[in-house]
Order: sequence, then C-alpha cells, then structure tokens
Amino acid sequence: MKAPVRVAVTGAAGQIGYALLFRIAAGDMLGPDQPVILHLLEITPALPALQGVVMELNDCAFPTLAGVVATDDVNVAFKDVDYALLVGARPRGPGMERKDLLEANGAIFSPQGKALNDHAKRDVRVLVVGNPANTNALIAQQNAPDLDPKCFTAMVRLDHNRALSQLAEKTGKHTTDIKKVTIWGNHSSTQYPDLHHTTVDGKAALSLIDQGWYEKDFIPTVQQRGAAIIKARGASSAASAASAAIDHMRNWTLGTTEGDWVSMGIPSDGSYGIEPGVIYGYPVTVKNGKYEIVQGLAINDFSRARMDATNKELREERAGVEHLFAKK
Ligand code: NAD
Ligand code: LMR
Repeated sequence: MKAPVRVAVTGAAGQIGYALLFRIAAGDMLGPDQPVILHLLEITPALPALQGVVMELNDCAFPTLAGVVATDDVNVAFKDVDYALLVGARPRGPGMERKDLLEANGAIFSPQGKALNDHAKRDVRVLVVGNPANTNALIAQQNAPDLDPKCFTAMVRLDHNRALSQLAEKTGKHTTDIKKVTIWGNHSSTQYPDLHHTTVDGKAALSLIDQGWYEKDFIPTVQQRGAAIIKARGASSAASAASAAIDHMRNWTLGTTEGDWVSMGIPSDGSYGIEPGVIYGYPVTVKNGKYEIVQGLAINDFSRARMDATNKELREERAGVEHLFAKK
C-alpha cells in the first residue's frame, strides 16, 4: 500500500456525493493500492445528513479508506488536499439552462478557490462538477493566484461518455471499440461532440453513420442528455456524473490509454484558435500525471463554427462573473 492521499469532496451529502464517495473510498478512482483520507464539505444544515453518510462509509470497512474528515469549514476541508472534487452547488430544474445557475452557484466558487490557494497541496488536482462547471472552475482558478492555473479543470467527461454510448448503440459495437471522441467547449447545450477523428473498431466513425444522423440526432442528443435525464428521473444525473468524475480523475492521475484520448475542460491556451481566458473542453492525453492537448487535428468549417459558438458562450459567461475574480 502507498501512503494515503487526501481527497476533498464538496456537497458530500448531495445525490452525486452519495454515488461518488463510496467509489472513491473503494479505490475506483486512484487504484486498489492507494489509500485515501476523505475530506467532506457541506453547508451547516446538511451536517447531520453528512454524519449518516460517514457512518455508512465506516460500515463498508473499505481497505483503502484511511480516514474521514467531515466539516462545514472550507479551510479545514481543503487543508493539505491532493485532490478536490467541487460538486456542491444547486442543480437545475426542468426548463432551465445550466448557465441560469451562475448567480446562485458562482458565489460558492470564489471562497473555495481562495481556500484551495491557501491550504491545498501545490500540485492539487481540482475537478469542478457543480454547474455551470466550466465557468465555476474559472471562478475558482481566478481566486487562486498562487496555484498553477492548470490545477483547475471542469467536467465534460459525462458528455464524452454519453457520446461513446450513443455511437456504440448506433453502430452495434461496444464503447470500448470506439476511440478518439472529443467534446469541445462548454458543458452546456452549445458543446460540440466531434466524431471527425473517431474510429469504431478501427474504421472512421463518419464512414459508418450518415451525416443526417450525426447532425440532427447524435449531436443534439448528447447536447441535451442532461435535460432528458432530468425529465425522466425528476432529478439531474447523479450516478453517471459520479462515474464520469471518477474517470476524469483516474485518467488525470494514472494516464490515458495509448492510441486514445479523453475530453477534459482545461484552461484554453490558444490551441485550436481558442484564446486564453476560459475553461474549454479539449481532447487530451495524460502521461506522468500531466495532461497535454492533442495537437494537429484537422478542423473543417463544420467543426470550426461549432467550436467558435461554444467559445462565444463561455466568453459571455466569463463576462458575467468577472466581479467574482480576486483583484490583481
Ligand atoms: P444536490 O442538491 O443533490 O447536492 C448538492 C449538495 O451541495 C447539497 O447537499 C448541498 O447542501 C451542498 N452544497 C451547497 N452549497 C455548498 C457549499 N457552499 N459548500 C459545500 N456544499 C454545498 O445536487 P447534485 O445532484 O449532487 O448536483 C450537484 C451539482 O452538480 C449541481 O450543480 C449539478 O447541476 C451538477 N452536475 C454537473 C454535472 C457535470 O457533468 N458537470 C453532472 C451532473 C450534475
Ligand atoms: C448533466 O449533464 O446531466 C448535468 O450537468 C445536470 C444537468 O443540469 O443537465
């Protein structure tokens, strides 16, 4: 067994929290040889419910669970953490767009960014799940001037996994036969799920499906899947969101598979014409715990227009929250 690492999860008594904590504690995120100490943050009124979750975590007697800290103090929650999964935020209801949550949720992420800046390990890996995830990640990053901006990421992995699942069903293959799917941009209805570089069982995906299905069925289905789950379940996705968060952190830490890539919301750096200043979904590979944008992909006019549209939305979201950034 390795030495334990500290993993903070916010919103730990919420529905994603309930699907996430047991999998992290069981070793699904960092491996069966990596013990974890969970740091669980909740708002004060949710502390009794959180205590119940802690009791259940202890009752699982997981070999990889080395301790639990449960608190409503953000400075305690982020003390010396190696990982931070920022889940705690309001979910949207029917008829809302995720950016409608900016006002309610944006204010959560400036104090959390500052507390990470002051207390977390200098190489902390931060994943923002709470919506609107990309812009909340930007708010946290902009309040943490002493941390590397690349520590801050947002979750587009659920969209990536949804794209794999839709394409697998259409082509009659398994998701593991599919390589090189990309989610560009925002975790919102402007995201662009790109199949131009995707292969299914070694064949070009776009040679196996018709353009009409790609444009009119596949893209909107992936873009609108969150709303479809809310309509069907009466609550937003939780187990699939937790699973995607596990995938994101596992690949960021343990690496991606040779010959494939994953999608992560990361600080834009000018690659593919997306100027710095937003947290944008890119295709990435990970080696030795560092992510790199996949470079050199051909971008046609169809893709360019969609990548620019989602970039425009992110810039608009940014303009609406700049007052929450730390003063320089
Ligand atoms: P939930 O309402 O069940 O749980 C949220 C929890 O966060 C609650 O227990 C609440 O008390 C807590 N919380 C609120 N403010 C907090 C704060 N300042 N500090 C710590 N905890 C706080 O919601 P959920 O279904 O678990 O969803 C959480 C968020 O994740 C929502 O914003 C939702 O839209 C988002 N989400 C994102 C994705 C994605 O792909 N990025 C997927 C699914 C859900
Ligand atoms: C999702 O994609 O399922 C989440 O972001 C929840 C939502 O509001 O759609």
